[in-house]
Amino acid sequence: MSKLTPAIQHLAELLRTELHEYNYQYYVLDKPTVPDAEYDRVFQELQKLETEYPDLLTPDSPTQRVGAAPISAFGEVVHAVPMLSLGNAFAEEDLFAFDKRVRERLKLSESDLIEYSVEPKLDGLAVNLRYENGKLVRAATRGDGATGEDITQNIRTLATVPMVLRGHEFPKILEVRGEVFISKAGFEKLNARGRDKDEKTFANPRNAAAGSLRQLDPRITATRPLEMYCYGFGEVDGAMPERHSDMLLALRQWGFRINPETSIANNAEGCWAYYQYIGQQRDKLAYDIDGVVYKVDKFEWQQQLGFVSRAPRWAIAHKYPAQEQLTILNDVEFQVGRTGALTPVARLEPVNVAGVVVSNATLHNMDEVERKDIRIGDTVIVRRAGDVIPEVASVVLERRPTTAKKIKLPKVCPVCGSEVLRVEDEAVARCTGGLFCAAQRKEAIKHFASRKALDVEGLGDKLVEQLIDAKLIEHLPDVFRLNLQQLANLERMGEKSAANLLAALDKSKQTTLPRFIYALGIREVGEATAKNLAQHYGDIETLMNASVEQLQTVNDVGPIVAQHLAHFFQQAHNRDVIKQLQNVGIHWPALQRTGTDAPLAGKTYVITGTLSSMSRDEAKAKLEALGAKVAGSVSKNTTALIAGEAAGSKLEKAESLGVPIVDEAGLLSLLVDN
Ligand code: IVH
Repeated sequence: MSKLTPAIQHLAELLRTELHEYNYQYYVLDKPTVPDAEYDRVFQELQKLETEYPDLLTPDSPTQRVGAAPISAFGEVVHAVPMLSLGNAFAEEDLFAFDKRVRERLKLSESDLIEYSVEPKLDGLAVNLRYENGKLVRAATRGDGATGEDITQNIRTLATVPMVLRGHEFPKILEVRGEVFISKAGFEKLNARGRDKDEKTFANPRNAAAGSLRQLDPRITATRPLEMYCYGFGEVDGAMPERHSDMLLALRQWGFRINPETSIANNAEGCWAYYQYIGQQRDKLAYDIDGVVYKVDKFEWQQQLGFVSRAPRWAIAHKYPAQEQLTILNDVEFQVGRTGALTPVARLEPVNVAGVVVSNATLHNMDEVERKDIRIGDTVIVRRAGDVIPEVASVVLERRPTTAKKIKLPKVCPVCGSEVLRVEDEAVARCTGGLFCAAQRKEAIKHFASRKALDVEGLGDKLVEQLIDAKLIEHLPDVFRLNLQQLANLERMGEKSAANLLAALDKSKQTTLPRFIYALGIREVGEATAKNLAQHYGDIETLMNASVEQLQTVNDVGPIVAQHLAHFFQQAHNRDVIKQLQNVGIHWPALQRTGTDAPLAGKTYVITGTLSSMSRDEAKAKLEALGAKVAGSVSKNTTALIAGEAAGSKLEKAESLGVPIVDEAGLLSLLVDN
């Protein structure tokens, strides 16, 4: 251990301030000024220092977000100012009645202006953060409003919560309140991770957030995608602004994240417009909300209005229709997908979920059915959030009837009668019928015609089913052999739309190699992989003859995808389908090859900093299309470093190794010239 000097202490302080500032730019302003690599570099420097001088370590160091040691129970925290709840409005009338009550109490007339601070109502957990002299000292859950649980160590792991306040002008004591939540994407990822590891999954983002925050082991909390938006305060010892909206701005200055949808609305009419606007955005928002909150903006008026029982008279929550409802699971059927995967689908007693009648919902796969212990006859919670397919989130076990029946995976495919196989360690069961199975053929053709594949306008799901059921087509290439009369004779199809479809089919024949590879519907080969394969091989023949080992040299192709590819191209009928598709006229322009004849073959570039004309990924793809390699770190073998704005450590390294440095203009001319 080395001796701690004031200079070292000062250096640690500098590094911490720098990291706090980077965090603020990233999470609060949403405008990082340095690349991630630079953040990592400073972080590591501080970490190294703290390892060498353990006395330097403080709980508010940015290195401490990994989580402290587990505890046996949460301590109690008595809130200095109680955490209240909100009254609810469900209909437009409730909102106007609220505004009327506010006016009456304030002795304002209908023509006086009342400004409301309006905010989305996030569906998470309310927490109180206490800062003393700018340092986070205590974080607590709402609990019963008077007493909550001490979750300080868990809150410290949230990157969106500042450990120290920014600036100097903050109150000596500051309690900030807000909602801790998990975004929709974070929830999906968390559940996917849970499924992979055969661990528990959560029914919705709120449960996931609650389960993650109330963990006795903060190291687990640290791995969960928890975020926070602040919307209010508790005890404050210091000067206060005059309005709620100004307080939110001040909170933002001090380093807290405020919901960017927060706004000001004039009178009840403005609130109503905001309710409708956020309602339209609801599906697109990154997180679940259950309503919006209107708060009288002026603190003076808030004080005059006061409280009734445990809710303020100056605020109200206006709720949206619930995204979860109870219903009965009447039956389960199995659908067969493109790759033969059998998906259990719940047939439900129809129920209105957030404005849409839901009678079918996905059960994902048999592992999910078993994990959630879902049985036919059960009362289940269906969830429909956004554009996602409705799903059965969980079962209400208390309501299980004695007649409830276990769900069984069928032994044979419900469509073609082939054997159903469930590979060990895989959640998915598959029909082994392959292209013998009409369901798989239908799905393969639907995929082939879909927008990101060959994009055949007019050849939608319904029509494909009709064509297969009428036996007008059997395999993919048959689609291109249809004639006007066959089509025009179909139900709901006139001569005009038949002619349009033939024209669309003809047009789709002119495509690109990445689209064609993607359209084949090979397992796990999405758009990005198809693009990489096309770039690497340049033509379909070379790809078809590549070995499993060779395929793995392609960007982002691992052993499993390589297996799927090789297996697909080994099948005689697949090779035959590709040949027939080329024979009916499907073609694409030749691609730049990545072999030794490519213009940038043998060159290796590294990209750093921010480019203004394209993203780093785009630059990478463009260089690779010209045959160059793009590496992650600078070495003496690097041909040149491409440095955008705010380049950090890589630039230094390139300079020290004497590697040539090219700016954005240089990159553009490199791309144009070759
Ligand atoms: S204000 C005295 N604003 O809703 C005012 N609450 O039903 C107290 N919530 O426990 C709350 N977003 O968990 C407020 N923008 C927002 C909110 C919000 C979510 C939650 C919070 C609170 C509950 C009240």
